[in-house]
Amino acid sequence: MYIACTCKPAQGQNIHLIYNYFIDNTMKHILHITSSPRGKQSHSITLANRIIELLSVRYPGSTLHINDTVEKNYIHLNAIHPVAYLTPESEHSQEHKDTLYSSDNAVNELMQADILVISVPLYNFNIPSALKAWIDHIVRAGKTFSYEGGKPEGLLKNKKVYLAIASNGVYSDGPMKSFDFGEPYLRFIFGFLGLHDITTYRIEGAGMPGIMETALQKGLESVAV
Ligand SMILES: Cc1cc2nc3c(=O)[nH]c(=O)nc-3n(C[C@H](O)[C@H](O)[C@H](O)COP(=O)(O)O)c2cc1C
Repeated sequence: MYIACTCKPAQGQNIHLIYNYFIDNTMKHILHITSSPRGKQSHSITLANRIIELLSVRYPGSTLHINDTVEKNYIHLNAIHPVAYLTPESEHSQEHKDTLYSSDNAVNELMQADILVISVPLYNFNIPSALKAWIDHIVRAGKTFSYEGGKPEGLLKNKKVYLAIASNGVYSDGPMKSFDFGEPYLRFIFGFLGLHDITTYRIEGAGMPGIMETALQKGLESVAV
């Protein structure tokens, strides 16, 4: 089936794209994790929205939940967090429950999702601290991974992950390739949680003359789900 789409990014002209793919009637729960404060100007969110748009066509009736980690402002873990994480639920004090509230919600959202779409602005060659803070709240022994018998095992299964990475430089290839610490880290940490089916799309080179002029269109055109 062919589908024609017109994309209206915040900057630049409309972008016309044509896709050819199958419709799958399995409805999916999509969780979009954002970590850019730039809203409609954000390349990582624009790219993720393209992925979600195509997923919604491929899987009609799918639901979308958005978790904006910048707005959510997950706090840095403090001394009580690891204690609360490791205390059995039946023994939780009110302080433990209050401490775990955001983390439990984030973990529940994650567990309910079939597909994760993660918007990632590259900051200082790595992921933004807002996204890292979310990760610190969802990596939970006994919930998202286990160390049974001293062997780590991811407890999240059968979820597809899409990374939508935006950067001013080019990291998919060339001299800067080994300086993107964000994608390898995300692949590792999601793999640690049991999620190995990960696809990366990029809008990159948006700060480089000669590349920046077509970076947005090229990134959006690369998406195929
Ligand atoms: C604090 C900060 C650090 C950045 N560090 C890098 C970097 O290390 N490499 C790079 O290519 N671009 C870097 N950039 C540019 C962003 O990756 C680029 O603007 C990207 O489009 C941001 O994603 P967004 O559009 O979704 O907000 C940085 C931008 C900011 C604000």
